[in-house]
Amino acid sequence: MIAPRLSKPSTPTIHSDPMKRILILGATGSLGRHVLEQAVAAGHQVSVLVRNPAKLPTETRALITVHQADLGQIATPDLAALVRGHDALINCAGMVTEGQVFVDLVGHIAEAVESLPAMERPVCWFLGGAAALDIGNTGRKGVTLPKVRDTYWPHGKNYERICASPLDWRMLCPGPMVEQPALGQGRMRISTEHLPVHIPGLARALPAPLLLLVFASRIPQMIVPYADAAALMLAHLEPADAMSRHRVGLALPEGMRGKKDTWAARPAASSSAAA
Ligand SMILES: NC(=O)c1ccc[n+]([C@@H]2O[C@H](COP(=O)([O-])OP(=O)(O)OC[C@H]3O[C@@H](n4cnc5c(N)ncnc54)[C@H](OP(=O)(O)O)[C@@H]3O)[C@@H](O)[C@H]2O)c1
Repeated sequence: MIAPRLSKPSTPTIHSDPMKRILILGATGSLGRHVLEQAVAAGHQVSVLVRNPAKLPTETRALITVHQADLGQIATPDLAALVRGHDALINCAGMVTEGQVFVDLVGHIAEAVESLPAMERPVCWFLGGAAALDIGNTGRKGVTLPKVRDTYWPHGKNYERICASPLDWRMLCPGPMVEQPALGQGRMRISTEHLPVHIPGLARALPAPLLLLVFASRIPQMIVPYADAAALMLAHLEPADAMSRHRVGLALPEGMRGKKDTWAARPAASSSAAA
């Protein structure tokens, strides 16, 4: 099933949304750097929380508010105080490969935002991965499949955590991301809840090892530029919009396949397709 496009065509760095007060966590990371650059270029009022401010681009530092903190150590009330006053929070911090550390980090952020009065809570973007999305109409997610769950289980845990929360959250669930020029939101396939690529109805009957092959064979379509992932989040910052409380999938235009060396969970049988 190919899910409907939810966003209007736009370029990654220019959009017509009103100025927002945005707090970016993990702004020194591969994705966070793009979110920061695009948010500043779009004229938003940007704050960042980073462990090491020296990693921020010098020319950007003067344009933003910088908070230095480690999300693994900052107390919940202190984090809540930093979050207060923002319209949106975009969490690019942490990595799925950190396992429980990543789950704890997301839980800590959610707890801090939840501690604020409802009217003061920002719209929150969290990062998952394609394995957190439903595989077509199979009723199964990548995180339930062998090999995939070994590495990507934290996405499932984080999804459960934010689902159980009253926050106005969205979880971006891209495949592997790459440092490539943006293709533009008008060209990308965007979905909610399901993978943004075609999965045949017959997949529903497949046992897990075969469904894994189907899932892995679709990954190259979901290898997306960081810049497009950043643009998607920045284009959807309105409270209770179409993406509110949804997992959001992102794929290349129909017919395009991306390349990334590190797709750890692909089975050997599909390695040539994903290479
Ligand atoms: N990269 C991909 O292909 C991919 C695909 C799907 C989903 N994702 C998800 O997307 C998110 C961002 O990925 P990425 O590639 O941008 O990761 P990354 O380059 O490793 O960046 C991670 C960021 O998190 C920060 N961070 C980690 N622990 C922190 C802590 N305790 N306190 C404060 N900051 C902390 C890092 O800060 P420092 O600079 O100080 O280390 C860095 O800025 C991750 O959740 C990842 O699981 C990534």
